[in-house]
Amino acid sequence: MQVTLTLNDTPHRLDLDPRTTLLDAIRSHAGLTGTKKGCDHGQCGACTVLVNGRRINACLSLAVMHDGDRVTTIEGLGSPDALSPLQAAFIETDGFQCGYCTPGQICSATAMLEELRAGWPSHVSETLDGPALPTEAEIAERMSGNLCRCSAYPNIIAAIRLVAARREDRSAAGPGDAT
Ligand code: FES
Ligand code: FES
Repeated sequence: MQVTLTLNDTPHRLDLDPRTTLLDAIRSHAGLTGTKKGCDHGQCGACTVLVNGRRINACLSLAVMHDGDRVTTIEGLGSPDALSPLQAAFIETDGFQCGYCTPGQICSATAMLEELRAGWPSHVSETLDGPALPTEAEIAERMSGNLCRCSAYPNIIAAIRLVAARREDRSAAGPGDAT
């Protein structure tokens, strides 16, 4: 059947078996191989993409469920010439070794920072209605769906905290001072 996905701002009209997962549609049909297949069972987070701005495991969702949706993959967040703040921070803090989990980590962290900013509580947040701070515990909890076989966790958390701190600096400086 015909499914239209807007992948990284480009509409893709795909002819798919209705059983095709969103992950396979992205990788095998649209040819965007930045998103990785790890477990294919919703356990590792390697396949994390953003659907209409929210992070999901693409291996657990059928492509037909996303007809008309806006999907952002790692290729849509930045490019080698124009890295996103998180992509740059992962390099800066040495947040990856083999790099297999990294696209999923960065997609997940991109949405997670927005969830934090929007005041969504997590299991470890001290209050349900106050803003949560990007502490190590908050980030570890919120990123717990993304596994790293190389165990680069301390550096992944450092990268995310770096971006959160830079955003805070920018908002404290005010929009006129933003760089
Ligand atoms: S490949 Fe989707 S969660 Fe592991
Ligand atoms: S960097 Fe190798 S799996 Fe995470």
